[in-house]
Amino acid sequence: MRIAILGTGVVGKALGQAFITLGHEVKMGSRDAKNEKALAWAKEMGPRASAGTFADAAAFGEIVLLATLGAANESALTSAGAANLRGKILIDTTNPLDTTGGGPPKLAVAGNDSGGERVQRLMPEALVVKAFNTVGAPHMFRPDFAGGPPDMFICGNDPGARKKVASLLADFGWGVVDVGGIESSRYLEPMCIAWVLAGIHGGNWNQAFKLLRK
Ligand SMILES: NC(=O)c1ccc[n+]([C@@H]2O[C@H](COP(=O)([O-])OP(=O)(O)OC[C@H]3O[C@@H](n4cnc5c(N)ncnc54)[C@H](OP(=O)(O)O)[C@@H]3O)[C@@H](O)[C@H]2O)c1
Repeated sequence: MRIAILGTGVVGKALGQAFITLGHEVKMGSRDAKNEKALAWAKEMGPRASAGTFADAAAFGEIVLLATLGAANESALTSAGAANLRGKILIDTTNPLDTTGGGPPKLAVAGNDSGGERVQRLMPEALVVKAFNTVGAPHMFRPDFAGGPPDMFICGNDPGARKKVASLLADFGWGVVDVGGIESSRYLEPMCIAWVLAGIHGGNWNQAFKLLRK
């Protein structure tokens, strides 16, 4: 498949490399077609990787991943263009973090709204699925824990899109917990803060969530 990654940070690079490893073609998008991080990443990844603007990547991708700074989502998505995202699965990996004031991050959006819902409102014709926001970038692909595969919690309004993302997550080595519509981002984004606080207080960032059932 053709995959677009909007974002050049550790998440964009980790997910881009994962899709390349699985045999997909990946275009990394950023504000500037000559973004040095994106060009270096594409060169390192080889012929199935490329780089371009947010719009180039969104037009290229059959599935698009949003991996920008949460506060930059609106600007990045506007640049990507609604027409390039229409009808496509848009995997929102972001968290609306407020890192001002020192200490652990807080959520800039919470309560009766969420970053995921904002992304869906910005791009009403995209099939937004929240995923990958509750674990650190180094463990997003082939997570390897003694307790077995961890679970990725996902949500989004389109059941078919959630099913497709669940299938991709299985290819990545994850179990999946489907928590329904995009408004459930209100609960998945705070899980990111819990993950950070567990890392700070537990002194170990090699951690992931798992839902135990019987
Ligand atoms: N780090 C993790 O382990 C982790 C885990 C789960 C979820 N997340 C979430 O995933 C997202 C990406 O995280 P990250 O750590 O990879 O990177 P990040 O540092 O949060 O964001 C980097 C990306 O945001 C872009 N950006 C920054 N300001 C922008 C603006 N004004 N307009 C457009 N784009 C802008 C950067 O563009 P340039 O290339 O131009 O600088 C870069 O592509 C975040 O929302 C984060 O909360 C992170």
